[in-house]
Amino acid sequence: MAELTTCELKLARPRDAGCLAQMSRDYIEHGLGWRWRAPQILAKIAAEETVVLIAEVELSGERFIGAFAAMDFGLEKAILSLLAVHPNLRRCGIGGRLVRWLHKSARVAGCFDVELQVRARNAAARGFYRSLGYREVDHLPGYYSGKEAAYQMTIQLAKS
Ligand SMILES: CC(C)(COP(=O)(O)OP(=O)(O)OC[C@H]1O[C@@H](n2cnc3c(N)ncnc32)[C@H](O)[C@@H]1OP(=O)(O)O)[C@@H](O)C(=O)NCCC(=O)NCCS
Repeated sequence: MAELTTCELKLARPRDAGCLAQMSRDYIEHGLGWRWRAPQILAKIAAEETVVLIAEVELSGERFIGAFAAMDFGLEKAILSLLAVHPNLRRCGIGGRLVRWLHKSARVAGCFDVELQVRARNAAARGFYRSLGYREVDHLPGYYSGKEAAYQMTIQLAKS
């Protein structure tokens, strides 16, 4: 079995945009059309109100971006807009580490409500978010270009 020896969380750099766009296409947007291409990811990395976080991993001697997440910070609310973990690295706790890191940043930014939309058919992600304390608060038919429904999920972060 492949051995995960390193997993470091870092802010994404502009040169990561192409890789993150491919991860979005393959792991998040499959079957919906590719919206998060390199220029859109680059804009997210550059945006002042957004944090794009990557997990740089070393697996069996090979170093690569194993996961990433993006959170947009508003005045009182944050939106978790992108999250993906490489298939070979799932159920190792990396997705949870990324989201908890972003929750800490949200608290510092004064955003105690975090919101996201998840594909209704994505039982894995819905289970993942529930495990972190998110609740499904709305069902949004046709949310993804009329092709697929979404669930809106939210969490209220503790102030202490
Ligand atoms: C959803 C996703 C980000 C989870 O990342 P991960 O690193 O595998 O998650 P973790 O290992 O931190 O899981 C933490 C907990 O979440 C829950 N969970 C994770 N994957 C799950 C699954 N497939 N089914 C049910 N619960 C799951 C479990 O409670 C898990 O704890 P456990 O492994 O001790 O049982 C990952 O599956 C993924 O990248 N999926 C494809 C992209 C995607 O769907 N992104 C979300 C878009 S909104």
